[in-house]
Amino acid sequence: MSDGRAALVTGAASGIGRAIAGRLVGDGFRVLAVDVDPDPTGPGDHWEADLTTPEGNLASVAEARDRYGRLDVVVANAGFQHVAPVQDFPPERWQALIALMLTSPFLLAHHAWDALSDSGQGRFIAIASVHGLVASPFKAGYISAKHGLLGLVKVLALEGAPHGIAATAVCPGYVRTPLVEDQLDDQARAHGISRERVLEEVILEPHAVKRMVEPSEVAEMVALLTGPMGDAFTGAPVVMDMGWSAR
Ligand SMILES: NC(=O)c1ccc[n+]([C@@H]2O[C@H](COP(=O)([O-])OP(=O)(O)OC[C@H]3O[C@@H](n4cnc5c(N)ncnc54)[C@H](O)[C@@H]3O)[C@@H](O)[C@H]2O)c1
Repeated sequence: MSDGRAALVTGAASGIGRAIAGRLVGDGFRVLAVDVDPDPTGPGDHWEADLTTPEGNLASVAEARDRYGRLDVVVANAGFQHVAPVQDFPPERWQALIALMLTSPFLLAHHAWDALSDSGQGRFIAIASVHGLVASPFKAGYISAKHGLLGLVKVLALEGAPHGIAATAVCPGYVRTPLVEDQLDDQARAHGISRERVLEEVILEPHAVKRMVEPSEVAEMVALLTGPMGDAFTGAPVVMDMGWSAR
């Protein structure tokens, strides 16, 4: 249980972030559920912020600290995908991917650092991806941001250890969320094949285990990392990729 601890979860309106926010609320955390498009029916206290902006990150951390008087856990989860070959990849989409999935986690850590240190059991958890460890074509922005995020987490782990802060990157394979469901539809149209065939032949092709990870399974791992054993995983990628990176 959380002993009244407070958490900030980004991208909390949908998919993995929503599952994490719900799980942490269930574990007794007070949760600031940050999203550019908050869902009032979702778990936690809703806070609207565009995390591609410096102001959005500063205001989100300030709100959590003001509202709860403490901040013990930051889960940097918000993200999106853009699929295009490098010569067609719009530079502004690259900038937005890096802003949301690399610069925002840095700014959240930067602004929350004192509070995480005061916690005595501070936790910075980044929802990275197996794409922080391996590449696929046509995802230059996403894969570069996720590889960078793993580097950031390593630095936070080294700097955080003397202050009781653990930093960990969770690296799932494909997770059953709107981000992937949308790709199913797009790829089915692009390849002229059924959604089911896209799932089996395209999406799940790199998974040794032929199923997607469930958002609740990522939330379960995050819950474990918020606990006392979380510090054992500091600096490490926690890979839950159905065997993808074993190849
Ligand atoms: N779904 C997968 O297969 C998968 C696999 C590995 C890693 N991930 C990572 O998990 C994280 C969550 O992905 P998901 O699948 O739950 O996606 P999702 O699309 O279901 O949810 C993402 C959330 O982020 C929010 N968001 C987008 N831009 C934002 C912004 N500028 N500011 C604040 N919030 C913003 C969206 O509104 C949305 O609620 C991402 O970082 C993603 O890279 C997903």
